[in-house]
Amino acid sequence: MLAKVLLILLGTSVILPSRIEGPHVESEKAPSASDGDVYDPKSQAPEEKPSSEEIKPTATDTQDRLGKMPTATFILDSLFNNYDYKLRPGIGEKPTVVTVEISVNTLGPISILDMEYSIDITFCQTWYDERLRYDGSFESFVLNGNMVSQLWVPDTFFRNSKRTHEHSMTMPNQMVRIHKDGKVLYTIRMTIDVGCSLHMLKFPMDSHSCPLSFSSFSYPENEIIYKWDNFTLEINGNNSWKLFQFDFIGVTNTTETIATIAGDFVVLTLFFNVSRRFGFVAFQNYVPSSVTTMISWISFWIKRDSAPARTSLGITSVLTMTTLGTFSRKNFPRVSYVTALDFYIAICFVFCFCALMEFAVLNFLTYNRANPRGSPKLRHV
Ligand SMILES: *[C@@H]1O[C@H](CO)[C@@H](O)[C@H](O)[C@H]1NC(C)=O
Ligand SMILES: *[C@@H]1O[C@H](CO)[C@@H](O)[C@H](O)[C@H]1NC(C)=O
Ligand SMILES: *[C@@H]1O[C@H](CO)[C@@H](O)[C@H](O)[C@H]1NC(C)=O
Ligand SMILES: *[C@@H]1O[C@H](CO)[C@@H](O)[C@H](O)[C@H]1NC(C)=O
Repeated sequence: MLAKVLLILLGTSVILPSRIEGPHVESEKAPSASDGDVYDPKSQAPEEKPSSEEIKPTATDTQDRLGKMPTATFILDSLFNNYDYKLRPGIGEKPTVVTVEISVNTLGPISILDMEYSIDITFCQTWYDERLRYDGSFESFVLNGNMVSQLWVPDTFFRNSKRTHEHSMTMPNQMVRIHKDGKVLYTIRMTIDVGCSLHMLKFPMDSHSCPLSFSSFSYPENEIIYKWDNFTLEINGNNSWKLFQFDFIGVTNTTETIATIAGDFVVLTLFFNVSRRFGFVAFQNYVPSSVTTMISWISFWIKRDSAPARTSLGITSVLTMTTLGTFSRKNFPRVSYVTALDFYIAICFVFCFCALMEFAVLNFLTYNRANPRGSPKLRHV
């Protein structure tokens, strides 16, 4: 035990001075034999600290285990050594082409009151950065979210988003993969609340087209061009979608260039088309109002002598229609126009009202005919 501790102390004291003197003094620890990559002892310097204790037990074993790590570190270091993340690739020569792929994890719910919907997407952007080309046995490097700040990434923003939420558990949900040929794949997962103006004119037979549009915030058309990558919209099962009272119809994509004060920007838009499930609203609104209207017709079968029965039936159905009309507007945006449901309820109301009026008119006329002397009295009232 004591011997081990001493060994460790000795080991660190040997390594520490060498580190202080600089990485170049580091003795050549067997270069990773497996790959014939360029090897520079410099790259080992960062690896020394965590492994200083492990190195002792069996030196050869550790070297195998460290294997490609020094090479990887070296490649990454050399990549980022002269890398200026402030400048986009191909600056001054050609626009950067960013291909976009979106995977929709969850769509919905659609909030009718706020005229917005939320969507959970994994947003993938791919572009080529010549500065990140490298040689070696590695096909690609996967870097986690913490490295993103050291790279140039497109400043894509969602033009019609109201709130955006990045996921950061357990680590920021973003990833960068650098390929040998300089291809960079950057994916990030986020939840966005997107504004979507809903036209409720045909409610409840309405269908909507909710856009999700994005573009670069600062690079105009001649600097960044967005493209759909082989437009693959992954739709991850039906269960995780929270569209509730809507059915998903389909998705359409558009690419357009819009002119702003800052320049012309390439804007890509996705339209998620949804239509309302009719049954949901039908049971809540159409059935009660239709039944109420029919109930008001019952009074036609009641003898005209029984005025209390007929009037109470008429008045009740009229009042019920009023209540139903009010309820149908609850949880509904304050739109200025008359929707299809409003129209239906209004018609039902008119029917109920006519049924009540019918009895009043009938009663008045028959009363006059049956009791002619009563009529002048009534006129005086
Ligand atoms: C779309 O992607 C699939 C799978 O990667 C590929 O087979 C197909 O050729 C691509 N289509 C286009 C038009 O790029
Ligand atoms: C999604 O719905 C379609 C048709 O409604 C069905 O064919 C398909 O199996 C469903 N998929 C899942 C994952 O439930
Ligand atoms: C979605 O709605 C838009 C606008 O109404 C329409 O142009 C497009 O064809 C629709 N797409 C689908 C798949 O229904
Ligand atoms: C996306 O837009 C392109 C170009 O207009 C079109 O070829 C492609 O079919 C569209 N994809 C979908 C899913 O609408």
